[in-house]
Amino acid sequence: VTKSRETLFMAKILVTGSLGWDVPIWLEGALRSGGRIRARTLEADGETGGFPGRLGGGAANIAAALVRVGHEVWVCGRVGDDVNGRRILDGLAIRGIQTEFIDASLPSTPSAQILIEPSGERTIIGFSTSAAHSAPELHALSHDFDCHIQRGGGTRLGVRPPLIVAHVPTYGAYNSDADVVVGGRSDLAAGAENAPLATVRQQFPHANWGIITNGAGSLIAQSDSHSLEIVPQSVAMLDATGAGDVFMAGLTDALLAGATMESACRHGAMWGGICVGLEGSAAAPDEARYEAFIHEPSAI
Ligand SMILES: Nc1ncnc2c1ncn2[C@@H]1O[C@H](COP(=O)(O)OP(=O)(O)O)[C@@H](O)[C@H]1O
Ligand SMILES: [Mg+2]
Repeated sequence: VTKSRETLFMAKILVTGSLGWDVPIWLEGALRSGGRIRARTLEADGETGGFPGRLGGGAANIAAALVRVGHEVWVCGRVGDDVNGRRILDGLAIRGIQTEFIDASLPSTPSAQILIEPSGERTIIGFSTSAAHSAPELHALSHDFDCHIQRGGGTRLGVRPPLIVAHVPTYGAYNSDADVVVGGRSDLAAGAENAPLATVRQQFPHANWGIITNGAGSLIAQSDSHSLEIVPQSVAMLDATGAGDVFMAGLTDALLAGATMESACRHGAMWGGICVGLEGSAAAPDEARYEAFIHEPSAI
């Protein structure tokens, strides 16, 4: 017996951090220093309005997955008052994501080139500054959120939500009071996977759990009393962009539904696997593959 969608807990979630207009470039061969590689980019059509780009940035990727399973999601970050900034606002709005807290005062909207190798692995060439990753001041926000996800940055809210999930490394201002903190091994110093909790407590001293993901390899979640190792199910990787973001979204979806950390990590890994099997990082408005966390009947 599975619970119907209507009886699942749908939360009010604030996601703060980076927003960007990404330009994906599909390489015909693997990156090689000093080499020469043919490539293609997006066709000029559809959402892009004639410009070869797509919605990206960690906060947008997380919000797009969570809104697909029925959560009410606000994104707070910074864009510029320019064409790409408007494309980002439109891209969020057509997905049903609330944009009222976005600050459009950056000198220019962040844009990154994403080099995607035939293996599906991506390399990000970014130009944005740390100001672009940090959210505007949030102290005055009086909404009652069930959860704050900090992807890059985000200040303290007027009312502390019951759950704060954050990502390391941080950029710009951030609120160090997070409960669960996630990092990708390739963004962190060597050996982080051997000490996830100590690694994340360098920036988030009150964290109860530190989680280090490692692409197709095992992810490790550690608390003061537990250490879990989870092997992601193998999937055909088409575009690795946003895997860590969508892992965080799935993890949070499950934690909000009352899952154990082990079940939440498995659900996050499943969402990360869905993300790498799709082209793009911010789920399309009609993307149906993400499914909300459903308890095993025995766990209800
Ligand atoms: N090739 C893959 N096969 C299966 N799962 C994957 C793959 N790549 C990523 N994932 C899932 O997404 C999660 C986050 O991916 P990772 O690459 O570690 O994040 P980041 O985007 O920070 O590099 C992984 O822990 C895993 O669960
Ligand atoms: Mg990766």
